[in-house]
Amino acid sequence: MLKFGFIGWRGMVGSVLMERIGLNRDIDSVEALYYSTSQVGQPGPGGAPLLDADDVSQLEQLDVIVTCQGSGHTKRVYPALRSAGWSGYWVDASSALRMADDAVIVLDPINRAQIDAALKDGIKTFIGGNCTVSLMLMAIGGLLRSGHVEWVSTMTYQSASGAGAKFLKELVSQMGLLGSAAQEQLVDPAASVLEIDRIITQQLHSPKLASAITGVPLAASLIPWIDSAVEEGQTREEWKGQVETNKILGTTDPIPVDGICVRVGAMRCHSQGLTIKLKEDLPLDEVEALIKESSEWTRVIPNAKTESMQALTPAAVSGTLEIPVGRIRKMKMGPRYVAAFTVGDQLLWGAAEPLRRMLPILKNHLG
Ligand code: HSE
Repeated sequence: MLKFGFIGWRGMVGSVLMERIGLNRDIDSVEALYYSTSQVGQPGPGGAPLLDADDVSQLEQLDVIVTCQGSGHTKRVYPALRSAGWSGYWVDASSALRMADDAVIVLDPINRAQIDAALKDGIKTFIGGNCTVSLMLMAIGGLLRSGHVEWVSTMTYQSASGAGAKFLKELVSQMGLLGSAAQEQLVDPAASVLEIDRIITQQLHSPKLASAITGVPLAASLIPWIDSAVEEGQTREEWKGQVETNKILGTTDPIPVDGICVRVGAMRCHSQGLTIKLKEDLPLDEVEALIKESSEWTRVIPNAKTESMQALTPAAVSGTLEIPVGRIRKMKMGPRYVAAFTVGDQLLWGAAEPLRRMLPILKNHLG
């Protein structure tokens, strides 16, 4: 029986992954072993004691390792495992190995052919993409694959979940503090809205508002910076846009992708406002047809108020695999410029789902 080991399965992405694996019965026919970095020996799922996620000798027995533990753990353990001669399959949510030549970024609705070719070539390292990139490709991968796109500018509205569980919790606590501070005025019909604004602004500047994790207040605000700085004024999150998109698509002539990545107070859905420059003036219905072809989860939403409000928001998409793409129209810059807006669940297609979908692919490959 194949042995699959799970590391980092209790965190936010790991929990979503295990839930999806359970729903899809992906590990019914394998032996699942659970590892921990902090609770070794304590009972894990099914009651067996948790194994040590840092002990190479305990990991070497596995055919497949699935990890959501993060880059630090991958950098510590992966090279040691490979040096020890381990030749199993490594499936990882973190970015540590993403751009390595011998690693494939997995997003099978978009690059299944690349995954199959890599398996055939003996590649054994499969990494989930950056959430913003995976969600953008699930939305417009069909259009990008068609060869009609000159470049894409993506302005993101990224949810708190992308920054981790503690960040998300702190956002909700900020929302709670702001809501309760203006409680009295909210129930008083005579209260002035400027008084409510003054109270909220005062709270945003008050030390009572917890922001140790978010750095600055996020509720009732936003943060126009995600991750560390890289070269030429980009953040790392912005840099990933072009390199990962082109790696996933396997382009020989890379498509420029750039924009500003912004953290907003959404819970778990990333949204993106896209400007797409086409190589020629394609009619909008052709553009929409190519977008629709991106994946079976991609939905083209009519560019109308009610449909946009009902189907194209984080609240509507949260917890689902739907990838709505709407607000599609030609822009005033000219007939080759197309605007679009898309939303996707950062924990599902942005993180857990591409990894989960590797399990049946690997089971099938390993026969
Ligand atoms: N880096 C992303 C974010 C999440 O900060 O939202 C993971 O891809």
